[in-house]
Amino acid sequence: MAIAIKTEREILLMRESCRLLADVFQNLEKAIRPGISTMEINILGDQLIRQHGCIPNFFHYNGYPASICVSVNDEVVHGIPRKNHFLKEGDIVSLDAGLIYQGYHSDMARTFGVGQISAEAKQLIDATRQSFFEGIKKARAGNHLHEISNAIDAYIKPFGYGIVRELVGHGIGTKLHEDPQVPNFAQIKRGPKLRAGMTICIEPMINMGRADVEWLDDDWTVVTEDGSWSAHYENTILITEGDPEILTLY
Ligand code: MF3
Ligand code: CO
Repeated sequence: MAIAIKTEREILLMRESCRLLADVFQNLEKAIRPGISTMEINILGDQLIRQHGCIPNFFHYNGYPASICVSVNDEVVHGIPRKNHFLKEGDIVSLDAGLIYQGYHSDMARTFGVGQISAEAKQLIDATRQSFFEGIKKARAGNHLHEISNAIDAYIKPFGYGIVRELVGHGIGTKLHEDPQVPNFAQIKRGPKLRAGMTICIEPMINMGRADVEWLDDDWTVVTEDGSWSAHYENTILITEGDPEILTLY
C-alpha cells in the first residue's frame, strides 16, 4: 500500500487531534502517584479524551478492553488496566493512548517514574526518550525511512539495552495504523523515501535487559522475557520540506 500524503486540511486536523491528545497526557502525568490504580488512570484518560469531544481509538481496537494502555515495570506495552493493580513508589509506568478527532487519529506514549525511582530506571527512561530524538533527526523529506530505525539502534546500542523487535512504529491518519511500519532497530534495506505530508508514529520500546518479549495469557500484555524493566516513548510526527513537526509534544 502506498504511504498516504496528507492534504493541508488533513494536516490541520491531525495537528488538532495530536494537540488534544498531548493535553490529555499532561493531565494524566499529574495523576501519577503511588497508590493510584492502573484502572483509575484508564478511567481518567477516557474521561479527558471524551471531554474534548473525541473518541479513544484504542478502546475495542482488535478487542482491546480499555482506552489507555498502562504497562508497569517489566510490562512493555498493552498492559490492561486493573482495579486491583496499584502503582507503588519506585515503579515505572508506561502510558500509551490515542484519540480520534474529526476522523483523524493521534497516538503517543510516555514512561513516567512513580515517586522516587532508581538511577538505572531513570537512565532507561531518558535513553528511550533520547532515542526518539535521534531517530527524528533523520525524519526529513528525501531521506529513507530506515535511516530513522538505524539512528535509534545506533544510539541505544552502547547502553547494552534490548530493542523490542516484535512491535514497531507506523503511519497514522484516518486509521490508527497505516503504512509504513517504522522499526526501531537497524535495517538492511533503506525503506521507502520520506515525503512532506506523511504522518508517522516513532515509538521505541527499550528493555533494560534482553530484547525478547512474550505475551501474557490475557492475549494483550507484552512483557520482557527476562523480567527486566522496559520503557516506551512515542510521538505522532509530520514530515515537512524542512524540520519535522512533533505533533504530540507538550
Ligand atoms: N499504542 C499502540 C501503537 O502505538 C496501539 C495500541 S492498540 C491497543 O501502535 F489496542 F492496544 F490499544
Ligand atoms: Co503507535
